[in-house]
Amino acid sequence: MNIVKQSAEVIRNVQISEGVYDMWLKNMMISQSAPGQFVSVYCKDGSRILPRPISICETDRQNKRFRLVYRVLGEGTKELSKVKAGETVDVMGPLGNGFTISDCEHAILIGGGIGIPPMVELAKTLKCKKTVVLGFRDTIFLQNDFEGLGEVVIATDDGSAGTKGTVIDAINQNNIVGDMIFACGPTPMLRGVKKLAEQMGIPAQLSLEERMACGIGACLACVCKSKEKDEHTNVNNKRICKEGPVFFAHEIEL
Ligand SMILES: Cc1cc2nc3c(=O)[nH]c(=O)nc-3n(C[C@H](O)[C@H](O)[C@H](O)COP(=O)(O)OP(=O)(O)OC[C@H]3O[C@@H](n4cnc5c(N)ncnc54)[C@H](O)[C@@H]3O)c2cc1C
Ligand code: FES
Repeated sequence: MNIVKQSAEVIRNVQISEGVYDMWLKNMMISQSAPGQFVSVYCKDGSRILPRPISICETDRQNKRFRLVYRVLGEGTKELSKVKAGETVDVMGPLGNGFTISDCEHAILIGGGIGIPPMVELAKTLKCKKTVVLGFRDTIFLQNDFEGLGEVVIATDDGSAGTKGTVIDAINQNNIVGDMIFACGPTPMLRGVKKLAEQMGIPAQLSLEERMACGIGACLACVCKSKEKDEHTNVNNKRICKEGPVFFAHEIEL
């Protein structure tokens, strides 16, 4: 598929939690994406040339729409938060390799902070039994989007909701078991998830959220250490934007 930069009409862009925005856009090609893929979002301000990678949170194939949920972090996401319905945004996608929808009987979906959005489309796609474990610093968002899709368990750093501690603490405290883990979140969380999967003796698919530049596999700004040599560079690297962002835990070193 030839993926090019395209214009997408903004249908909705509203704040849903402190600093977190929910945006629906219209674009046929991206609405056909797989869970775990992402888009590169371009800024209108010419001083910000690099696109911002944002996971596809949800798709509505029938209406050719897709959803992004993002946290305002720096200037790029701040600019995005000011875009109004009816305006357009330049996007490229769908990019990367998403989650492998393999046979499992009980999936454990783990999302940490801004790693939670791609879990919505994944939870809608997986047909097996699901336990969704969501980790927040404090303010909760997207919890209701998982209603009816599986059991939802919450962990917060400050203990304001659910288990006080990490997603791993919540899994241990609630004796959650399954036969496949799917996770997206910050690297320290993914490190803990990888270890947990090893202890449980089950496979884990991890979606990495590292810094990116080109987003299309050309600049090597986003490589992670891999067990096997990469065809492109002939070293033990994998490009997160191209071969990832989702990898099986045994493929990569964190
Ligand atoms: C595959 C993938 C999926 C992501 N999905 C989401 C999501 O669904 N929701 C969300 O809120 N955030 C997501 N992020 C993080 C998001 O890309 C950054 O928060 C965003 O690029 C910050 O841009 P900024 O201009 O606001 O910040 P700045 O710090 O000003 O950005 C400066 C430069 O660094 C890059 N950058 C900064 N932080 C990150 C980061 N964590 N990851 C990658 N590049 C970064 C920016 O793209 C930009 O080129 C994802 C990152 C990746 C790699
Ligand atoms: S961001 Fe350029 S190769 Fe991945």
